[in-house]
Amino acid sequence: MTIDDKIGQTAQRGASSRVKGPLPEALKNAVREGRAGSVINVVDIEKVNELQRIAVEESPRHIPLIFARDVIHGFKTIFPIPLGQAATWDPEIVEQGSRIAATEASSNGIRWTFAPMLDIARDARWGRIAESPGEDPYLASLLAKAYVKGFQGDNLSAPNSIAACAKHFAGYGAAEGGRDYNSANIPEQLLRDVYLKPFAAAKDAGIGTFMAAFNDLNGVPSTGNQFLLKGILRNEWKYDGMLVSDWNGVVEMTTHGFARDSSDAAAKAANAGVDMEMASNTYEKNLKELVASGKVSITQLNTLVRDILRLKFRLGLFDNPYTETPDGKVILTDANLAAAKKAVIESTVLLKNDNITLPFAKNVKKIAVIGPLADAPHEQLGTWTFDGDAKDTHTPLTAMQQLYGKDNIFYAPGLNFSRDRGTDGFSKAVKATHDADAIVFFGGEEAILSGEAHSRADIGLPGAQDSLISALHQEGKPIVLVIMAGRPITLGNILNKVDAVLMAWHPGTMGGPAIADMLAGIYTPEGRLPVTWPKTGAQEPLYYNHTNTGRPATKQAYVALDSIPVGAWQSSLGNTSHYLDAGYLPQYPFGYGLSYTMFDYYHLVQDKTVINPGETIQISAEIVNVGERAGTDIVQLYVQQMVGDVVRPVRELKGFKKISLSPRQKQMITFKLTAADLAYHNQQMKLVTDPGIYKVWIGRNSAEGLQGSFEIKEAPVVKEKGRK
Ligand code: IFM
Repeated sequence: MTIDDKIGQTAQRGASSRVKGPLPEALKNAVREGRAGSVINVVDIEKVNELQRIAVEESPRHIPLIFARDVIHGFKTIFPIPLGQAATWDPEIVEQGSRIAATEASSNGIRWTFAPMLDIARDARWGRIAESPGEDPYLASLLAKAYVKGFQGDNLSAPNSIAACAKHFAGYGAAEGGRDYNSANIPEQLLRDVYLKPFAAAKDAGIGTFMAAFNDLNGVPSTGNQFLLKGILRNEWKYDGMLVSDWNGVVEMTTHGFARDSSDAAAKAANAGVDMEMASNTYEKNLKELVASGKVSITQLNTLVRDILRLKFRLGLFDNPYTETPDGKVILTDANLAAAKKAVIESTVLLKNDNITLPFAKNVKKIAVIGPLADAPHEQLGTWTFDGDAKDTHTPLTAMQQLYGKDNIFYAPGLNFSRDRGTDGFSKAVKATHDADAIVFFGGEEAILSGEAHSRADIGLPGAQDSLISALHQEGKPIVLVIMAGRPITLGNILNKVDAVLMAWHPGTMGGPAIADMLAGIYTPEGRLPVTWPKTGAQEPLYYNHTNTGRPATKQAYVALDSIPVGAWQSSLGNTSHYLDAGYLPQYPFGYGLSYTMFDYYHLVQDKTVINPGETIQISAEIVNVGERAGTDIVQLYVQQMVGDVVRPVRELKGFKKISLSPRQKQMITFKLTAADLAYHNQQMKLVTDPGIYKVWIGRNSAEGLQGSFEIKEAPVVKEKGRK
């Protein structure tokens, strides 16, 4: 290959949204001249094959293209947003969803998706929390593996497999203040123990590609970050896949103030190991000159190109460059829709259920359906659904009309969209409740209020939704609030005005039938929160696995704003870490979720209280369904290391099991832990497990549980990593 052939492979071309109409001549010429390694956002099979034919038959080296697209939570069959999928705590359904996405997308020529997003998110103001696997590295790592397996299948070269992309490497979820693209300042120890863990899991699962993040990490933009991209990804982890920049990420290093100009940006990205440049063209413009001047070595350019070609070989593109129309239907099949519906049931979190409002009793026959999201097919799909179609979407209104009969559903949205501040529709909405036995309010956020660059400072219900719910409350009928949103929504006093709350996230194509069935009790919601749910956005960042202060907040020592006497003097006694006006507790803790039945946890049993080197401890508890209905629970194991070389989290998730029990059925659940499961990075950045005392809990969420403890004797250093 000539140097021009090589530079050509590093370019990803295409359009910022789907190429409609005939293929642009400029794009065809670029492919013909060998100036493209990949094409983004060309979706139709004819166009894909046309461009591929030009690449394979007319370009100088006949190298096939890789066609890329953001297939984030489904292609045509849209699953719940990734944060919703994280609420399933079920790697199997996540794998199934991404397999379906791969099959549907590849039938349209797509062989590379920019998913999964593996950014740990601890701030619900950040719009991209919707795409995240939540706040916990253990859960996120299991889901990372499931996504990779689903997208890539057992064989990446199979025509229905697509390369996955671990993005955004790294620290993007720690954007300061939750403002998208913002700087992330993450100490190395926290980076390794929390933020990098899901990425390492994806790498271990054989992910085909990584994407460098937009943000600067500790002052160095990820796109030019040698420590991150070379030091950790390539040298420590021995990753031999392909690394792509984010959209314009290379040239934006000039705006960051990290590169002088486009040439400097290209040199910094290339030398850090970014193989392919998305959108901007600094490589095309400068790499030849940079190689000639020795600022980028030819060896480094060869490395970039080798990574790109290796991916093309792994995808089997040299043998089978074209997309064949599959035999039979693969898009929106009954099986795909059934899996999407199951995912909604597994992801929906029952947050409140006073007086067993849900499921609706048999005598609830007539229902008032109110709210801006009851019949909003586009909105319920959520963020990043380029190919999802509103016409294929089943809304709650239509599903409830089918289930209860059209005459028994009194629909009046009250508001036209989530941000609507108008009150004109209120009286009609209130009137619709008059003959109803119960009210279901479908509220939350439109799809556009979360996702990239859509952060919010106030994460309450937008528009006049609060006022409308208050008006409905006056009617004295049971109210169920169904939230569809890309993040936890702070509810304030509204929580006292509704009897039950279901968090459905943005549930996707099958949201309607799944929600209707859950309201009626045909299915029980199974989700558990993958993020802490705040009382107010001002509490953010808020997460369960924080470290302790010297003065942790306690119930006894909590000082509320109104309890401070007028004229009180400053004193440091009894002061703890909390807000005077928002307390120290979230609205709902990580791991929380109710069921239509109830579970009791009994008898924490440990097979030992001391772990000697090489030993495993078993910790068990008995779970009993003490309610009247069958139900599913997610049994969670948490650990706290009492003393560490650096301060350690107050709790860390170390295991979970999803169980289904019929009324009065019991099950003994056992978790196993080894010293290696408790390893963390110490001050010397060594991965160690310390000897000492550990507390352990088995419980239903991160704020409760049966407690035990054990001691680790003479634990060895598990592994050395990073700096010595
Ligand atoms: O994949 C995305 C990324 O997450 C954000 N910027 C654009 C990319 C391609 O669309």
